[in-house]
Amino acid sequence: MRPNKWMLFCVICCAMIGAAENSRAAEKQEARPPDLSMKTATSSEECGSCHVAIYREYAMGFGGDLSYKGIVYKFAKDKLLTLPANVSTSGTAHSLAGLDPFPIHARGIEMGGKYCNVCHYPLSFEIPDIENLETGKPQPRPPEQEAGGMTCSSCHLTPDGKIRGPYNVADIADLPHETLTEPRIQSAAMCAYCHSLGKRTAGKQTQTFLEWRKDFNKPGLGRQHCQDCHMPRTLRKTAEDFDVPVRAVARHLWTGGHSPQRLGSALSLIVVQPREGKPDLEFHVINVGAGHSVPTGSNRRGMYLTIDVKDKKGKTVAGREWLFAPWYGDRPDDKTFLEEDKNRPDAVSATMADAQGPHETIIRAGEDRVLNWMPALKKGAYTVQAKLIYDLNRYNERTFLADQTEINHASLAVKVEGTP
Ligand code: HEC
Ligand code: HEC
Ligand code: HEC
Ligand code: HEC
Ligand code: HEC
Repeated sequence: MRPNKWMLFCVICCAMIGAAENSRAAEKQEARPPDLSMKTATSSEECGSCHVAIYREYAMGFGGDLSYKGIVYKFAKDKLLTLPANVSTSGTAHSLAGLDPFPIHARGIEMGGKYCNVCHYPLSFEIPDIENLETGKPQPRPPEQEAGGMTCSSCHLTPDGKIRGPYNVADIADLPHETLTEPRIQSAAMCAYCHSLGKRTAGKQTQTFLEWRKDFNKPGLGRQHCQDCHMPRTLRKTAEDFDVPVRAVARHLWTGGHSPQRLGSALSLIVVQPREGKPDLEFHVINVGAGHSVPTGSNRRGMYLTIDVKDKKGKTVAGREWLFAPWYGDRPDDKTFLEEDKNRPDAVSATMADAQGPHETIIRAGEDRVLNWMPALKKGAYTVQAKLIYDLNRYNERTFLADQTEINHASLAVKVEGTP
């Protein structure tokens, strides 16, 4: 057989793989312990050299369906806020926390750069008590150490400089770093520090952990902790090149608002015509998949239930829309506070929320929310189409679609005898 360019390509490839293996072996011999002198600003690549698969998930979202398409702060024609070109648009929110231009831009406008850093780039923290969160406020890193955002060490480094994890690895020979066995890392308490702020107020933003504890865990709706849904486990080694056992390792993916798969699993949607022949309609939005409210977290998140009633020719004859969103503060968002908002230190954020006016509250864990509507319809046959649309930034124009994801839809054929 005559050598062709493909064979040559194969030879080069094999040589490259061989070289990569050699250098991996060399790395293994060197197995350098991580340098933790930068504390939570320690770059995640330090850890990724040994914990390869976990790093690939954290930085590239490998095995998930995350995507950051870019966002506008307000107007559809504004400059698109996109990730820097050298980072993966499918990386996890945690890996992007110091790079995601949306919070960075929002911080500049809303708070003159202050305060927000506490959760987006914190120092090491003690895992709070799951029953009692009184551990004080998260402490931010100094501004010159922001760039790394959230690192492996943000979660794994204890305030006294140990690396915590769920296992007892004391019997592993040549362990390159000390570890602390910390079973609570597998509980919701691990996430509470950043995913809750302030007292429990149903309907408000930054309540994810408290929603989980009060609405989901305590009443017994489910036994899952945050990790069971957001870090699904797989059997593999935690450090590929070491002589360590295969363990049930949590995928470091944290799919949430940027994952159509995760969003699509949250809610059921059902359309009902309760009285035959009458035009009154009932829409059920049922939280079957989230261990907290939907939407949850930042007040920026919103979800629309959009209804189109179509006649036999497919023409829309009636329509309606509801918005579901976390309140910005302790009370429902409301236009009557706009004047008062002007004197607040957080005037920009409060005004944005109140200017949108009243809306539906968020759908709690296990809740079946029923929305009623009676469109004025003449005698005839219609199709009622309902859609649930998730919006990462409810404050920008609805015509900007890149931050919206249709997460569910349902339809029903109805016959109407005439409006009563
Ligand atoms: C030189 C290789 C190497 C580097 C660098 C490294 N690790 Fe490890 N790490 C290991 C090995 C080996 C184990 C033991 C794994 C096992 O037994 O499954 C381990 C275990 C762990 C565990 C589990 C501990 C437990 O008790 O459950 C965590 C968490 C961890 N490392 C985090 C980190 C973080 C964070 C960094 C970066 C700051 C890092 N590692 C850097 C090799 C490394
Ligand atoms: C040190 C603070 C901190 C801890 C601890 C933390 N998170 Fe986060 N988390 C954040 C921040 C900040 C973001 C948003 C980053 C961004 O988008 O810029 C985030 C984003 C997320 C998202 C994605 C939201 C989206 O819209 O895509 C999920 C899901 C999530 N976290 C789950 C968890 C879980 C589960 C835990 C516990 C195992 C946890 N987090 C622990 C700070 C934290
Ligand atoms: C948002 C917090 C967070 C970040 C960031 C994070 N981890 Fe973890 N890590 C966890 C939690 C929680 C667990 C325990 C998961 C479980 O089994 O419930 C864990 C477990 C581990 C384990 C033990 C294996 C396992 O799944 O139990 C290793 C090793 C590890 N992480 C390494 C890393 C490395 C390396 C990085 C950075 C590339 C990183 N982690 C980033 C929260 C985090
Ligand atoms: C029973 C599974 C389940 C459990 C348990 C669970 N979640 Fe979720 N989570 C979901 C689903 C489904 C979504 C998508 C719908 C939504 O955004 O609420 C989601 C979304 C999120 C988001 C994205 C919000 C955004 O702004 O886009 C964050 C952050 C989050 N969860 C954090 C947590 C934390 C922290 C815990 C534990 C206190 C937790 N989750 C427990 C299923 C779960
Ligand atoms: C209590 C901790 C905490 C504080 C304080 C905080 N954030 Fe966040 N932020 C989060 C978490 C956690 C998320 C992840 C999404 C969620 O929970 O909805 C997030 C998400 C965001 C997002 C959406 C990011 C995306 O990818 O879509 C923006 C924008 C944001 N924060 C801006 C800010 C600004 C501006 C401030 C200061 C006014 C601030 N944050 C203060 C924890 C915090």
